[in-house]
Amino acid sequence: MKLMNSGNLLSNRTRISALLLALMLLLLTGCSSTGPAETGALTESGSAEETTLPTVTEPASENEASEPYSTKSSLPEGTDRMFYAHVNGKVLKILAAENSSADAFLDLLKSGDVPVEMHDYGSFEKVGPLGTTLPRNDEQITTEPGDVILYQGDQITIYYDVNNWSFTRLGKVQDLSQAELKDILGSGNVTVTFSLSEGRMEPESSKVLVVIFSRTGHTKPLAEYIAEDLNADLYEIEAKVPYTDDDIKYYTNCRADREQNDPSARPEIAGELPDVTGYDTVFIGYPIWHGQAPKIIYTFLEGVDLSGKTIIPFCTSHSSPLGTSAENLHPLAPDAAWMEGRRFAIGTTAGEISEWVKSLDILSGQPADTGVFDFEKQTVLLNSGYEMPIIGLGTWTLSDDEAENSVYHALKSGMRLIDTARYYGNEVGVGRGLQKAIDEGIVTREDVFITSKIYGGNYERAGGIIDDALKDLNVDYIDLMLIHQPGYDDEGVYKAMEDAVRAGKLRSIGISNYYTKEQVDEVLSFATIVPAVIQNENHLYYQNTELQEYASQYGIVIESWYPFGGRGHTSEHFGNEVIKELAEKYGKSSAQIILRWQLQAGFIAIPGSSNPDHIAENYDIFDFELSKEDMQRIRELDQHERYENW
Ligand SMILES: Cc1cc2nc3c(=O)[nH]c(=O)nc-3n(C[C@H](O)[C@H](O)[C@H](O)COP(=O)(O)O)c2cc1C
Repeated sequence: MKLMNSGNLLSNRTRISALLLALMLLLLTGCSSTGPAETGALTESGSAEETTLPTVTEPASENEASEPYSTKSSLPEGTDRMFYAHVNGKVLKILAAENSSADAFLDLLKSGDVPVEMHDYGSFEKVGPLGTTLPRNDEQITTEPGDVILYQGDQITIYYDVNNWSFTRLGKVQDLSQAELKDILGSGNVTVTFSLSEGRMEPESSKVLVVIFSRTGHTKPLAEYIAEDLNADLYEIEAKVPYTDDDIKYYTNCRADREQNDPSARPEIAGELPDVTGYDTVFIGYPIWHGQAPKIIYTFLEGVDLSGKTIIPFCTSHSSPLGTSAENLHPLAPDAAWMEGRRFAIGTTAGEISEWVKSLDILSGQPADTGVFDFEKQTVLLNSGYEMPIIGLGTWTLSDDEAENSVYHALKSGMRLIDTARYYGNEVGVGRGLQKAIDEGIVTREDVFITSKIYGGNYERAGGIIDDALKDLNVDYIDLMLIHQPGYDDEGVYKAMEDAVRAGKLRSIGISNYYTKEQVDEVLSFATIVPAVIQNENHLYYQNTELQEYASQYGIVIESWYPFGGRGHTSEHFGNEVIKELAEKYGKSSAQIILRWQLQAGFIAIPGSSNPDHIAENYDIFDFELSKEDMQRIRELDQHERYENW
C-alpha cells in the first residue's frame, strides 16, 4: 500500500490471483471442517500473556519406525531453511524444522507461493488445506505458540497457543510474541500465503483503489487499513484551498457549513485526479459533514469516470450513521455498481476493518462489469457469466396463441428477452413463437434469452417440472429459471434448479417475489450457486432500491415485472405529471420514459403486451438518455408502495 496525494498514483500488487488460487485449492481439496485437535486431546489452554516465541529446536522425539519418511532433513547443511507467511499485510518469518516433511514443504515453495485459506479451530490455532499431500512423521508433542504444523499430510496449522497432539512440525515462527502472532492472524478466515520470499509477492497492478478525504485524520487510518489489507492503491483527496481549523468549526457558518448547505458547491481538488482505468473496485472514504459526504467528494465523483466499477463508500462520524450520504452520491456515478456502504466509529481497529473487507468478498473473482448495464449491447453480465438482455417481453395472461404471436413480434422488433412461467400455462406458445422466428431466420436459439419460473413441489418434482418446461418450450436449455415465489420448499426447488444447471438444462437461476434482505439471505444460506436475478414487482411507486443495493454486492440484478405498475395502474403511471413532462421533453411516450428510467436505474424490464405496435414502442428506447437530474426526479416519485401481495 502506498499513500499518494492528488496526482501521484503508484501501483501496488494485489492478492487477487493468490485468493483465486486458494479458492481453487479449496475446491480441489474440499474444505474439511475436521480440525487437527480432533485427533488429540487438548490438554491445556495457554494464556495470552506476552511471551516471546522460542526459536525452533530439533523435534523432542523421533518416530522413524512408524512412517516411511525420515524425520531428519536430507537437504545439504547450510541450505537456507527460512520461509515466510504473508498475512494481513504482515510477514511471519518461519524457520523450517529439520525433517523430511519440512524439506518437502520447502521444495513445494520453490515451485511458487502457496496461499492457504485458514480458519480458526478452537482458540488456539488457524488451520487450512494445503492443496497437496506432504510426507508425514507424526509425533505426540505439546505445541508451543508459533509452531507451524502439518496436519494429516494435507493441512497446515499455525498455533498461537498450546495443544497436545500428534503432529508433524514444519517450522516455527521467529521473533514474535504470542500476542503479536495472535493479533496478526486476527479472528476469522484469513488467507496466509507461504513463500520462500520475505519481500512482497510477485508485483501485479492493483485492481482496487482506496480514495480518501479526511480533514482531521479520523477516516484516513481506516483507508490505510483497507489499502494495506487488499494491497490496494491509495489516493488522498486534498482541497486546493486547504480547510483551516476555522473552516471546519461547524455550526458557525464556517466554510464547511456553507458548502454543505450549497447544492452547487464543488470545492476544487489540489493536483490531478487519478487515472481510474484499470481499477475494478473503488472504496471512497469520507467524514460525515452535516449528515452527508463533504462536497469535495462530489467534485471527485464528477471528475472521474467510474462507470462499470464497483464503488464501496465508508465514513466516520461523531455519531451520525451513513444515512443518505452514500445514496446521494449514486447519481454522480450512475453507471457504477454501488455497494452498501458502512459507517465506522472513530478509532476503529485494523482488525475490524479487515473483517468488514473480508465480508465484502470483493476479490471473489467476479468480473467488475457484473451487473453493469451495457446500453450498446443492450445486455447485462450476470454473475453466472451469461449476458442477459435488459429489455424484454412479459407474457403473463397471454394464451398460447397470443404468446406465440407476441414472442414472434418481439423477436422481430429486436427484443431478445422473453419471460414466461410454468404458471402462465403458455410455454408451448412461447416455444412456437421462438421456433417461428428461428425458422424465418430472424434469430438463432443462442440469440434469445428465455426465462421461465417454477413454483411449489418437492425436490424430485421440481426436477421434473424443469424437464416439462424444456419440453413445452421445445428448447435444449432455458437461459434463466426462477423460483416463482417464496414459500413452497424453496430449498428443494432451488437445489433442483442447481442440479439442472450442472446438467446443462438451465444456464442461470434466480428467484422472484423476494422483497427483503432477510428473504434473500435465507436463499443465500442454502444456495451453492448465487442467484443471478431477482424478478420483483418494481415500478415508479415501488422502486425498492434497498434490495437492489443489497443484492448488487452479490452481483444479483433486479428485474421488474409490472414496469408500468400492472393492470389497473398503467394509466396512472403514464399520466404522472413528471413522466408526462419528460415524455414531452424527450419526444417519447410515457411508456418509453418509464422503461428507459427502469434500465438506467439498473432494472431489467419486461413489459407485457400482445400488441405488436406496443411491443415495438417498448423496445424503441435506445436512442435517448435521461439526464441525471431527470433520473433523480423519477427516483423521487417512489412511494414504497406495492400493489400486489405475493
Ligand atoms: C463541518 C463538519 C460537520 C460535521 N457534521 C457531523 C454530523 O452531522 N454528524 C456527526 O456525527 N459528525 C459530524 N462531524 C464530525 C465528523 O464527521 C467526524 O469528526 C469525522 O470522524 C471526521 O473525520 P476526518 O477526521 O476523517 O475528517 C462533522 C464535522 C465537521 C467538520
